[in-house]
Amino acid sequence: MKIRKPIFPAVKGILHGGDYNPEQWLDRPDILKKDVELMKEAGINSASLGIFSWSVYEPREGEFNFDWLEEIINNLYENGIYTILATPSGARPAWLDAKYPEAMRVDAYGVRNRHGLRHNHCMTSPEYRKKVEIIDGKIAERFANHPGILMWHISNEFGGECYCDLCRKKFQEYLADRYDHNIENLNTAWWTTFWSHRYTSFDQIDPPYSNGENCVLCQTLDWKRFTTENTRDFMKFEIDTVHRFNKDIPVTANFMEIYDGLDYHNMAPELDYMSWDSYPKLHNDYEPVWETALRTAFSHSLFRSMKPDRPFMLMESAPGVVNWQEVNKVRRPGFHKLMGMQAVASGTDTVQYFQIRKSRGSSEQFHGAVIDHMGTNETRVFKEVADLGQVLKNISEVAGSIADNKVALIWDWDNRWAVEDVRYLSQESKKFDDTCIDIWKALMKLGVEADIIPQDGDFSKYKVIIAPMMYLLHDGVGDKIKSFVSDGGQFMATYFTGYVDKSTLCYLGGFPGQGLSEVFGLVSEEIDALYPTDRNSIKPVKGANAKEASRLEVKDYQELIRVKGSEVLAVYENDYVKDEAAITRNTLGKGRAYYVGCRLNASDMEFIFEEMLENAGVEYGKLPVGVEYHSRFAEDNRYDFYLNFSDEAVEIQCRAGLELVTGTKTDSTLKLEGRGVAVVKSK
Ligand code: GLA
Ligand code: ZN
Repeated sequence: MKIRKPIFPAVKGILHGGDYNPEQWLDRPDILKKDVELMKEAGINSASLGIFSWSVYEPREGEFNFDWLEEIINNLYENGIYTILATPSGARPAWLDAKYPEAMRVDAYGVRNRHGLRHNHCMTSPEYRKKVEIIDGKIAERFANHPGILMWHISNEFGGECYCDLCRKKFQEYLADRYDHNIENLNTAWWTTFWSHRYTSFDQIDPPYSNGENCVLCQTLDWKRFTTENTRDFMKFEIDTVHRFNKDIPVTANFMEIYDGLDYHNMAPELDYMSWDSYPKLHNDYEPVWETALRTAFSHSLFRSMKPDRPFMLMESAPGVVNWQEVNKVRRPGFHKLMGMQAVASGTDTVQYFQIRKSRGSSEQFHGAVIDHMGTNETRVFKEVADLGQVLKNISEVAGSIADNKVALIWDWDNRWAVEDVRYLSQESKKFDDTCIDIWKALMKLGVEADIIPQDGDFSKYKVIIAPMMYLLHDGVGDKIKSFVSDGGQFMATYFTGYVDKSTLCYLGGFPGQGLSEVFGLVSEEIDALYPTDRNSIKPVKGANAKEASRLEVKDYQELIRVKGSEVLAVYENDYVKDEAAITRNTLGKGRAYYVGCRLNASDMEFIFEEMLENAGVEYGKLPVGVEYHSRFAEDNRYDFYLNFSDEAVEIQCRAGLELVTGTKTDSTLKLEGRGVAVVKSK
């Protein structure tokens, strides 16, 4: 039984709101008044304030101005709208950069940026930190105990790197700590005797400048780890600053999908709730819209899985349209609701937007908003927002419920970074992210939502784990997989698994390393990268598995496998690997370890997934094309979400219960209109 844990008990339901920038309209009280009326009409119960307000808060150094904010927060609160209050460190006022130029970032060529833009500060700069501490402290002192404040929104979309001398020094200190203050440990880990790159002291080491050292792979990886650590440290410093005034206000920081520059898994422990900003390229010309939507669901799963015991938040999404994509296509009718409900189905307790009202000028003036320049409730977008607002009210009892998935996919930043940077394979078709996402999507099409966890994550609640291209292994992961399988788990790995350790040093004695060779009952001897139009195929070994695959296409990669005790499920049909093992299964203790030695289309791997799910006793059921299924649980209630991203009406087999969107009883079939959503509550 799952205890219901809503993020915001005061709200009594799902949070519906978004970024709101009243500081742009302080000379228009009529507009500010109208905004509140329209928010209420749209069922909006929260606003994220102050994200980029520093130059209004502190127009000149040391001169503070918060009265306007207090008036806004009070007024919203009186109207039933709560505030998520940001720290304004996402963009710096001009006076700050003029007086403290070290706050401005230095790029990978060593050139200092000029003033402007946002999200581009030096996270190390003591002067910048001092200024942030002052402004955050002043805001927290004044507002941290206001009853309308729900949460702190720390800065905005942390990201990027700085190559200044202060950061260089801090990187050296980070390395000294990491390598126990012994430069020989670093020389070994970085394999610096190669190309005569040996160091004799930590202060000789640079960040991987674009015009400097960028071929020492572990150096690049350690730099990425350092950048995460420095950003985490900065974020923690902001959290500590606001918490000095009231430590009970929870904190979040809005992250960016599977952003490449920071290891969010290492930042998550500092936050009370995970949140992210979602801007899918819906209705594009290269895939059906439900495929795009499933990619968004992957990101939802990633953030949910970072704190699986509680709901997470959709901090930003676009009402109608964005303005910064190559093609800013308007969301087609019905998709506002579908995407908002997808977030809830995936485990969020919030549907929030960028933005509530469009700004009149500058670069985001045409970005979608709940309230358009027209300023009325008559726009299509406003009506769709209000419609979703009503649906969220109808399903308010799902707030605080959580997922309970038995399948996990391993995806993490360290391995991703290592795969992307390795000088091997085919530069064109490494496609680490797409490979993982496609496998995750193939599971979704079988009606199975997988959590997405790092290799250091907790395996214990899962019955099936799939680890695509787990090239880099952290210490102890081999043993963890071995115990997982021995204890009855179903584990699947693919080609390019277990080649290197956490320092990107190759395992000796045969891949996959760390004892995984025994777990899978094989050694991978060669990996062959294929040209984009090269194809091989595999055929099943007769009688080897219940759900035999037919002949399947191989593309991009094929490994030459030496079988050492595993059963061969499929062999290659052509090329120099003809008749060699392509897919194997090894029984170890109570579980099974599968190895897929070549790249197949994810949908062609269904027969392996089905076998693993059946071995594990995990329920699954194929869904109609375009339909997504998710579930959440609280107390003894189960909430099954069905989202129909296609235009066709479909009939779905479901549990009998109460459909919450319409408030009608359902039996075991559910009719879902094209672009329809349903939430079936059962026991
Ligand atoms: C990001 C930012 C917002 C806004 C939106 C526009 O997510 O956090 O401030 O710029 O993009 O899509
Ligand atoms: Zn710096």
